[in-house]
Amino acid sequence: MIKIGNISLPEFPLLLAPMEDVSDPPFRSVCKSNGADMMYTEFISSEGLIRDAIKSRRKLDIFEEERPVGIQIFGGDEEAMGMSAAIVETVNPDLVDINFGCPVKKVVTKGAGAGVLRDVDLMVRLTQSVIKHTQLPVTVKTRLGWDDDTKNIEEVAERLQDIGIAALSIHGRTRCQMYKGLADWELIGKIKNNPRIHIPIFGNGDIDSPEKALEYKNRYGVDGVMIGRAAIGYPWIFNEIKHFLQTGEHLPLPTVQQRVAVIRQHLKHSLNWKGPKVGIFEMRRHYTNYLKGFPNIKEFRSRLVQLNTYEEIDEVLEEVLRTYDGFVAEKNLWTFAEGAPNCETAK
Ligand SMILES: Cc1cc2nc3c(=O)[nH]c(=O)nc-3n(C[C@H](O)[C@H](O)[C@H](O)COP(=O)(O)O)c2cc1C
Repeated sequence: MIKIGNISLPEFPLLLAPMEDVSDPPFRSVCKSNGADMMYTEFISSEGLIRDAIKSRRKLDIFEEERPVGIQIFGGDEEAMGMSAAIVETVNPDLVDINFGCPVKKVVTKGAGAGVLRDVDLMVRLTQSVIKHTQLPVTVKTRLGWDDDTKNIEEVAERLQDIGIAALSIHGRTRCQMYKGLADWELIGKIKNNPRIHIPIFGNGDIDSPEKALEYKNRYGVDGVMIGRAAIGYPWIFNEIKHFLQTGEHLPLPTVQQRVAVIRQHLKHSLNWKGPKVGIFEMRRHYTNYLKGFPNIKEFRSRLVQLNTYEEIDEVLEEVLRTYDGFVAEKNLWTFAEGAPNCETAK
């Protein structure tokens, strides 16, 4: 069993990665139902929280059924990070996670996200400030370093552990790599196997199949893996990996009934949480993800994205069920070549 403060996680937990504009409560709900052991909110600006920006506060919404859940914050100012940790504590998440990994220019130029990798002393002070202002376990998510010549994750891991973080998630890329190339798990494995390190180390980057999860578990010895892009449109990835690790066998691919059930769950949650207008609007970008690989699905998609009520959408989903009854799509992975639109564009 893995312990993070008072949180008990099963052996080799599967974590849903924080993802901006993706890992909101409706999406987390479908990932939880399909096997995610722990999840995080998208990153939330510490400055935004303090200004009481409504958008930032809304990102703090968490629901009982998704526990354990962490709230992720970012920022480059010690006082603001401490204050925002105290704000986060008021909504009672299971932990506070600090983002020292976001590569986006507007974040790193403010000395936040992966920008802090260039100043480990500042990283330590920011983390100390968060720890000082909350009783909750504090975890960190970061990258290997700034660039190929400055991969300082070993120093980062030791120093952050020494000041009291409860777990560390490592995305096996540098800031300058953004999302390009393959994640380097050798270095993640080195941190995990450093005899000085005793906190849980979660590996992150490119996990997209049960085989890869098993291979990386065995080869690098990490305490668990964090999965991001492969869960987009495919929350079944969590249970698929779990089943494979336990039995060595593959679960059958999701049927059209399972896919539509997930769409309905996501949509209902979206409506409840965001209200009818925004809930329906924001759901529109998810339909093709869930129905990737279905022949001629574009026709249904273009209808789904024009409808404005749950009932109308539900009727089209019934039609999808009838049309594709018995059809099983190939695994519709997020193609990593597509990268992460919000991050790739940052230079
Ligand atoms: C759309 C998108 C948004 C992301 N937003 C965040 C974020 O808010 N906080 C964070 O720590 N990482 C964020 N990431 C990085 C992911 O958490 C993860 O580290 C990265 O996608 C690599 O994992 P993967 O290969 O499993 O996708 C984001 C990634 C994507 C694709």
